[in-house]
Amino acid sequence: MNPIRILAIAAAVAGAALGAAGQDQPGGKKVRVGFAQIGAESDWRKANTESIKSEAAARGVDLKFSDAQQKQENQIKAIRAFVAQGVDVIAFSPVVETGWEPVLKECKRAGIPVILTDRAVDTQDPSLYVTFIGADFVEEGRRAANWVVKAVGSSANIAELQGTPGSAPAIDRKKGFEEVIKAHPGLKITKSQSGEFTRAKGKEVMESFLKSPEGKQINVLFAHNDDMALGAIQAIEEAGLKPGVDIKIVSIDAVRAAFEAMIAGKLNCTVECNPLLGPQLFDAVEAVMAKKELPRRIVTKESVFEQSGAAATIKDRKY
Ligand code: AHR
Repeated sequence: MNPIRILAIAAAVAGAALGAAGQDQPGGKKVRVGFAQIGAESDWRKANTESIKSEAAARGVDLKFSDAQQKQENQIKAIRAFVAQGVDVIAFSPVVETGWEPVLKECKRAGIPVILTDRAVDTQDPSLYVTFIGADFVEEGRRAANWVVKAVGSSANIAELQGTPGSAPAIDRKKGFEEVIKAHPGLKITKSQSGEFTRAKGKEVMESFLKSPEGKQINVLFAHNDDMALGAIQAIEEAGLKPGVDIKIVSIDAVRAAFEAMIAGKLNCTVECNPLLGPQLFDAVEAVMAKKELPRRIVTKESVFEQSGAAATIKDRKY
């Protein structure tokens, strides 16, 4: 083919990509994306926010970002404000699973596509969102339980720190964990309560577990995220016990602070949940703007990290 024609095709392809990215929309307008974030409850969430903001900036997207401070009503208000502003795409990470249909129908009536990231919504109507990008939380729960079976054996008194009540990760991680341990009748969850995905609440709830009549028998802790495990570690130390030794601990996320705790011997295992969803989110936004088909579900790839490999791996952690 004539080299000039090749260059012309390449320029056209690049131009189309730029248009989709928002730097060169018809009329020179940027793509406007409204993102309704849950809050800043954990190191995971802070890394997730940073990934979304930096990827939007790198692609020249006009990002309207809102922080709901853990309240569903604030997320709904933010989504309504995005509809009123007429953004091109709305994305959000739903704090809880239920109660979204009315506002999602408003987005649909306004013709604004919705992308879910990180957490799912409970709806029977598949037309209310385009795609859901995020981890498989049930599988994360299974991975945590498989680690318990491997490391502790088939008999243990397990304390569980659950995430935000009604949230997809709290529901699904519990489900996956219980699915695996039910094959081992000696593995018993003797205490289980929400620590709201925060360090402060994780510490407070672990203190109450340890003071309870079953407290002395606890020898495993399963925390639905690293932040709660890190709070619980303080409570265990203050009770005169050795976290990671007297009580084996497995949690989820694989944030840097969890690696530091593993290197210090205080946390035994962390199951990865990748918060760096910005690139996948804006790839999906570009596809939506270009009217391309997207898979209904985009699952992120994740691993499991144990104490023994933590010192060698921490340098590669990006969050
Ligand atoms: O939805 C993902 C969960 O939310 C993370 O595991 C937790 O740390 C966060 O707050």
